[in-house]
Amino acid sequence: MPNAAATVVSRLRAIVGDANVLTAPADVEAYVNDWRGRYHGTTRAVVRPATTQQVSEVMTACADASVALVPQGGNTGMCGAATPDASGEEVVLSLARMRAIRGLDAANATITAEAGVTLAAVQEAAAQAGLLFPLSLGSEGSCTIGGNLSTNAGGTAVLRYGNARDLVLGIEVVLADGRIWNGLRALRKDNTGYDLKQLFIGSEGTLGIVTAAVLKLFAAPRTRVTALAAVVDVSHAVALLRAMKQALGDRLVGFELVSGVALQLSRKHHPDLPDPLPGHPWYALLQIDDSASDAKLAALVEGALAEAVGGGVAVDATIAQSHEQAQRLWALRDNISEAQRREGPNIKHDISVPISAIPAFVDDTAAAIADAFAGAQLVVFGHLGDGNLHYNVAAPPGVEAQSFLSRTRQVNRLVHDRVVAAGGSISAEHGIGQLKREELAHYKAPLELELMRRVKAALDPRGLLNPGKVL
Ligand code: FAD
Ligand code: MLT
Ligand code: ZN
Repeated sequence: MPNAAATVVSRLRAIVGDANVLTAPADVEAYVNDWRGRYHGTTRAVVRPATTQQVSEVMTACADASVALVPQGGNTGMCGAATPDASGEEVVLSLARMRAIRGLDAANATITAEAGVTLAAVQEAAAQAGLLFPLSLGSEGSCTIGGNLSTNAGGTAVLRYGNARDLVLGIEVVLADGRIWNGLRALRKDNTGYDLKQLFIGSEGTLGIVTAAVLKLFAAPRTRVTALAAVVDVSHAVALLRAMKQALGDRLVGFELVSGVALQLSRKHHPDLPDPLPGHPWYALLQIDDSASDAKLAALVEGALAEAVGGGVAVDATIAQSHEQAQRLWALRDNISEAQRREGPNIKHDISVPISAIPAFVDDTAAAIADAFAGAQLVVFGHLGDGNLHYNVAAPPGVEAQSFLSRTRQVNRLVHDRVVAAGGSISAEHGIGQLKREELAHYKAPLELELMRRVKAALDPRGLLNPGKVL
């Protein structure tokens, strides 16, 4: 008599159909490796349910057989959180077939989307209704709403609209025992006890499986200005941010910092992209939106930037003259990650500190890295408006990348000790996954870790949901 774990795959086939249970190595390959090529696992099967009911039945079947599940959306995450382990026993639960938009309520300014809908598809549905879903990531064509919520994604419009967590009114979740919690409320006010949805948001698939969500929509921008400014150092970038906030108020949607090194790396891999202000050490990319048709917005931005240049805050600045020019400026910024992937392995950090502490953090950390690892290459960029930098460290020229990676813990200490000393976070927007589990255990207060473990034990007492991630 075969045991339950051995027969679980046939039970999964009965739930979702043969075509949606993948086991052949070639079929599962895309699901068991992360996009950066840093994490590789194996799986008993990839199961692809199409409905919440099927997810519930899949979860129940796995719970009955004591088989662990790894939820997966677009598999664009940065921390190996959607990659199964090497045992070959875990099941990958892909939500990619759950891609219905269940409804859009223009008067309530909400959209209800299933977990597997890509972020771009939600943005598009909102735009068709004359509204805006503001979450914006370089991966938006592939990442999914389930993944965005489960990682509490950030991106380039947090300054104005907040993180994914701020954009959710309700969720539907399949619990570890297979029961379905329908929390799809579309309310902006609901003080009926604990805000349970927020427990699942940012939990990286370790507490429940998100199957759908009610998301907030906003007035669509009718006027958009995109500008690039060059500055001499990061403290001037912070001063520019402050000046632009003062001049533009909440029309300032995004304020991205890009080092000259990062910009040139992006251009190295996309030589067709422009270099409108060549030769500067740091740049800020700004997006300014207004929901009114306002022909004067460009002049306002131009005036504010001219004042910044005149006052020595910025060295130079340029404003995109067309939608295409704006897209090309954003492509320079959005392609940095992909350029880094092509360049080879590097040690990534996704940190946040109070914005006022960023200049000293950048200077001190660069000096410490230069002392300890002469010639190490820093690729620094990110969401300065949110105090969030991607502080990436690559091997010195001539040092083999893999041997540099063996120093990861030492590099992490140099960077993360300074982050924590500045009152910051070792993971601003990418989460913990497997990449930062050790760092979390090192830096998080024991009481916070204990509370997290208690929440995990309450919602997933048998440890079947994404084991080995986060905690
Ligand atoms: P996956 O990678 O598939 O999964 C991520 C985590 O969520 C895993 O723990 C997984 O188990 C869990 N999960 C997925 N779906 C569900 C579900 N339905 N229920 C429960 N758990 C689930 N991130 C940012 O925050 N800001 C950025 O600016 C940004 N830019 C990026 C740019 C590029 C080019 C790339 C490749 C990635 C970028 N990312 C960014 C990272 C990534 O896109 C986000 O973390 C995204 O939210 C992941 O979504 P996904 O659907 O790909 O999730
Ligand atoms: C970004 O802001 O581009 C992302 O978070 C990706 C990265 O850090 O590489
Ligand atoms: Zn980012």
